[in-house]
Amino acid sequence: MSTDTITFDRAAEFYDRTRGFPDGIERDAAQAFIRVGALTTRSRVLEVGVGTGRIALPLAPHVGKYVGIDISRPMMLKLRGKQTGERINLSEGDARVLPYADASFDAVVAVHVFHLIPNWQRALVELKRVLKPDGVLLHGWNRQGDNEPMQQFWRQRERESRTFEGGLSFEQRQTFLADEGWRLLSEDKVDYTVHAAPIELVNEMRNRMWSRCWRLSDEQLAAMVRELEAFLKVTFADPAQIVPVASAFHVQKYAPPAV
Ligand SMILES: C[S@@+](CC[C@H](N)C(=O)[O-])C[C@H]1O[C@@H](n2cnc3c(N)ncnc32)[C@H](O)[C@@H]1O
Repeated sequence: MSTDTITFDRAAEFYDRTRGFPDGIERDAAQAFIRVGALTTRSRVLEVGVGTGRIALPLAPHVGKYVGIDISRPMMLKLRGKQTGERINLSEGDARVLPYADASFDAVVAVHVFHLIPNWQRALVELKRVLKPDGVLLHGWNRQGDNEPMQQFWRQRERESRTFEGGLSFEQRQTFLADEGWRLLSEDKVDYTVHAAPIELVNEMRNRMWSRCWRLSDEQLAAMVRELEAFLKVTFADPAQIVPVASAFHVQKYAPPAV
């Protein structure tokens, strides 16, 4: 499908390996959605950018109906390959043009998707349209090493190299829903630890495993990898040593703007 949004077709093969939760944490993340969203076995839930089902597979068995949409068929084929009886209704399509009737869902789940959509405001209009009058948006994201120097490194590079083209900037990610009039009703998070060697990121960047490097030229990528290596050397005593990294999965519940 041709689109200016950032599809994850190229990531389907390695997405779960690089973005998956440690064992058991996917269940805790699903419980966080259930708690925050007050989801029940009668709830009708839509997930936009459903991907490989990292959220959908553990969450779907707890709700009445789970519908997922994504522009990437290869990502959803991975979801299908992992299903063990979870009922998930999938569509290939764009969050900005949803193929669902008005007021169809009690909740919309969105995790790590708005930053990939250049005119994400259009997606928010669509989410509001398909939500029932008392329906809510459940916005989730996870971060490894909250507030670490690593986050600062990426923020800095994003600005300098202007790799970001379209969706949300790092700064906007904290405020975009409130800026558009969505009201924060409640939130929760799940803390967990991953174990990784900082140097692994260098290989992941070299192999363009993260969407932030998909639009870089070979020269830009090589320069960024060099900077990353230098940064890791001064930041970690031994970047090749596996270390515990404090991480968290966040869920926020928002009501759509009144008008
Ligand atoms: C970073 S992945 C997140 C997948 C899943 N939500 C998760 O947390 O594991 C983002 C997903 O959003 C999809 N995506 C990007 N732009 C989209 C759009 N405009 N409409 C629907 N899906 C989109 C990508 O193809 C990809 O599968």
